[in-house]
Amino acid sequence: MFSLINKVAIVTGSARGIGQAIAIELARQGADVVVSDIIPGDETVKKIKALKRKSIYVKTDVTSKKDIEILIQETIKNFKKIDILVNNAGVFITQPTLDFSQENWDKTLNINLRGYFLCSQAALKYMKKGASIINISSVAGMSGYPMAAAYCASKGGVRLLTKSLAVEFGPKGIRVNSIHPGIIETAMTQDILKDKNTKEGMVSKVPLRRTGQPIDIAGPAVFLASDAASYITGEELIVDGGWTAGL
Ligand SMILES: NC(=O)c1ccc[n+]([C@@H]2O[C@H](COP(=O)([O-])OP(=O)(O)OC[C@H]3O[C@@H](n4cnc5c(N)ncnc54)[C@H](O)[C@@H]3O)[C@@H](O)[C@H]2O)c1
Repeated sequence: MFSLINKVAIVTGSARGIGQAIAIELARQGADVVVSDIIPGDETVKKIKALKRKSIYVKTDVTSKKDIEILIQETIKNFKKIDILVNNAGVFITQPTLDFSQENWDKTLNINLRGYFLCSQAALKYMKKGASIINISSVAGMSGYPMAAAYCASKGGVRLLTKSLAVEFGPKGIRVNSIHPGIIETAMTQDILKDKNTKEGMVSKVPLRRTGQPIDIAGPAVFLASDAASYITGEELIVDGGWTAGL
């Protein structure tokens, strides 16, 4: 039921962090995986090949429609089809709203939201019944956080982009869901979490009393990509150790 054997997956932003963990766990369940990132993804490819699955790296800037077209064409050329797309590539830029530049607003929205739309649009042209898209949003796509207006707007946008695509492509048998991670230890959060007091303060609000690791997001992604989730679409899966359950 959870097997992904004979499936082909694309994971954006999978050179490191959450995307890398998802790419590896999809492969562990049997998928061949296209590693897509703006930075080199060879480490992820190597780990996937060690699991005896096929993998290629395609350098992709998700703000570039041309790069996305190449990503899709390379996937089709090498693997003939697309069963799973995980939109994960993202940036987290925080600043007081009054100082927030238009450049940072555009960068955040172009990567975190427009990139998800453009990758979905390009992949959907090749997706058939049984295919699925998983969009990595955030708990910041469910409620607001100070100094994170652009990030929250982008992640909230992903939440409804997901539901819209789910409604439009459900009749074709294509499922679209979002995952909303809480505090996960990656390069994205290392500056926030390196302060011991800040980390302890955040963890004290998490019922499971720990930060998340990238692997904590990979299991839910495998589940949503698999036939175990065959009647789930348009859903938002919060994976935050219970943090927002108590807000
Ligand atoms: N870490 C957390 O606590 C957390 C919480 C909620 C949601 N998320 C989301 O999870 C996703 C992964 O984040 P992470 O924590 O692994 O951070 P990360 O910084 O380790 O990974 C992000 C990846 O996206 C890639 N990327 C950035 N801009 C890109 C672009 N223009 N084109 C292609 N790739 C690009 C980066 O190179 C990097 O490999 C993001 O969408 C993030 O918003 C993270």
